[in-house]
Amino acid sequence: MRTEYCGKINFSHINKKVTLCGWVNRYRNLGKLIFIDIRDCKGIVQVFFNSDYAEAFKVASTLRNEFCIQITGIVLLRDEKNKNRDMLTGEIEICAHSINILNEAEPIPLDFHKTNNEETRLKYRYLDLRHPIMLNRLKKRAKITSIVRRFMECEGFLDVETPILTKATPEGARDYLVPSRIHKGTFYALPQSPQLFKQLLMISGFDRYYQIVKCFRDEDLRADRQPEFTQIDIEMSFITADQVRDITERLIRTLWIQLINVDLGAFPKITFKEAISRYGSDKPDLRNPMQLIDVADLMKKINFPLFYDAANDPKSRIAALCVPGGAKLTRKEIDKYCKYVENYGVKNLTWIKIANYINPIQDSEGSITKHLSIDIIEKILKRTSAQNGDLIFFVADRIKVVSNSLGELRLKIGQDLKITNQHTWAPLWVIDFPMFEENDEGTIVAMHHTFTSPKTCYADHLKDQPLKTIANAYDMVINGYEVGSGSVRIHSEKIQRLVFNILGITKNEQQNKFGFLLDALKLGAPPHAGFAFGLDRLTMLLTNSENIRDVIAFPKTTAASCLMTEAPSKVNATLLSELGIQIIP
Ligand code: AMO
Repeated sequence: MRTEYCGKINFSHINKKVTLCGWVNRYRNLGKLIFIDIRDCKGIVQVFFNSDYAEAFKVASTLRNEFCIQITGIVLLRDEKNKNRDMLTGEIEICAHSINILNEAEPIPLDFHKTNNEETRLKYRYLDLRHPIMLNRLKKRAKITSIVRRFMECEGFLDVETPILTKATPEGARDYLVPSRIHKGTFYALPQSPQLFKQLLMISGFDRYYQIVKCFRDEDLRADRQPEFTQIDIEMSFITADQVRDITERLIRTLWIQLINVDLGAFPKITFKEAISRYGSDKPDLRNPMQLIDVADLMKKINFPLFYDAANDPKSRIAALCVPGGAKLTRKEIDKYCKYVENYGVKNLTWIKIANYINPIQDSEGSITKHLSIDIIEKILKRTSAQNGDLIFFVADRIKVVSNSLGELRLKIGQDLKITNQHTWAPLWVIDFPMFEENDEGTIVAMHHTFTSPKTCYADHLKDQPLKTIANAYDMVINGYEVGSGSVRIHSEKIQRLVFNILGITKNEQQNKFGFLLDALKLGAPPHAGFAFGLDRLTMLLTNSENIRDVIAFPKTTAASCLMTEAPSKVNATLLSELGIQIIP
């Protein structure tokens, strides 16, 4: 139906006849001349109609935005004064001789020349995707998967598909369940990841597996989480954690070079412990130079209960966050930050502004400076490297509350005061995660997943001091986003059972849920390790988007629904009864 794409018209077409198909992107009727911009998946070009071609002119006068049309005309060079340097095809235009309206469009509910609200964009996603910004994001996503496939194939990885209708693969979220009609009362679970299948493929001897695969998790959603998302999933046999990190890091460097021409260099490595201590997060944004500094040792004898109690309680922490130039913050702005950390359980965010080296001019309500001797203040200033004009925040509380709240405050202030350098890239590895942690109910849960191996030197801890055992697990973090995660796996049935026991999984449950894995581990399972990237998060970073919804063609809302198809939806009673399911209101 066409001889060329709109966005591909260039000087080589001048004085040539072309036929184009696309949508009316903009329409201007100047009386004797009608101008339209016609848009297709490759770009936009200007077309004009004049009375020399009366029939075409008449039809063109009925056009409206987003009509789907076919035009034939001659490509012309624009007059110098009419050239539009902002448009790729801005130096040429097409004089239309004929037009064919392929389909009309009612006034569309989106205005491509303005910002539209997200609800409308999601309801009419097919229209939203007509916008060149959206199209370009999805083109980049396709480029990413294409580069990934080439890279993985060159490295000897085999692409193997794994089941979607399966048994639970625990990754810490709720499962999406699919009822079985044939086996009434039983359910498939959609995979939270292909974790167990990729391990089984290693036991089969496949050596190097990868897959670009959908995963499903019923969990609280946010800007970087969707209920259905895509992983670049990887597993290797006879390999060390360092080797896994080397390959996956090279893949990311290749993507950054090929897509945005940025050399990320070698990624630094920090331990989980260090990350929490210095940044209050296991996915630190290193574009932000501020760090949490421990000061409890300086407060052990002071006469200020808030600090004294915390300084002398091994389950507590006192940390300082020095904000460069923070002394300029108004009382109102500081109060806003006090409110902000309340969300993370902090009742008292104390602070001092540094006016001159020894005499802080102002401090928080509790007037903490009067409880701190000059000697202590000097030590704090030295340790935090605070300068005149800075402000230091302090939180004294339980360790988790301090790390979490100051970690979040660090990010918020970094953005608000533009301390975080938005024009750089900060990748890193976080390694040496604990095997387990205690959740709020005091239950021991796996920190990565249940199939992660302890570091060899910690294997003996497993039985007696599980909470002190370090896992051979690693996360890749870029600009504060966890873009991927992996570990060396347990390949011994005995250790796998021990881990299940520590997690309180009964023998019966072990057999019911993971019997196939436990059997396989007894049948010559090789040492193996792997990794999984979140493709949506990588795409979000590489397209400079702020939300993974913007890089997924048909995403869900934060309430896990699709506004376009209105999924999830009710099903009729017959279907339910065939499945043996009754809805309890
Ligand atoms: P994990 O659960 O850490 O590890 O997931 C790996 C990566 O997947 C991405 N991700 C998500 N992206 C969008 N929405 C979500 N809801 C979501 N959840 C996770 C993140 C994350 O780093 N099987 C293990 C990997 C392994 O050990 O090999 C796993 O799934 O970028």
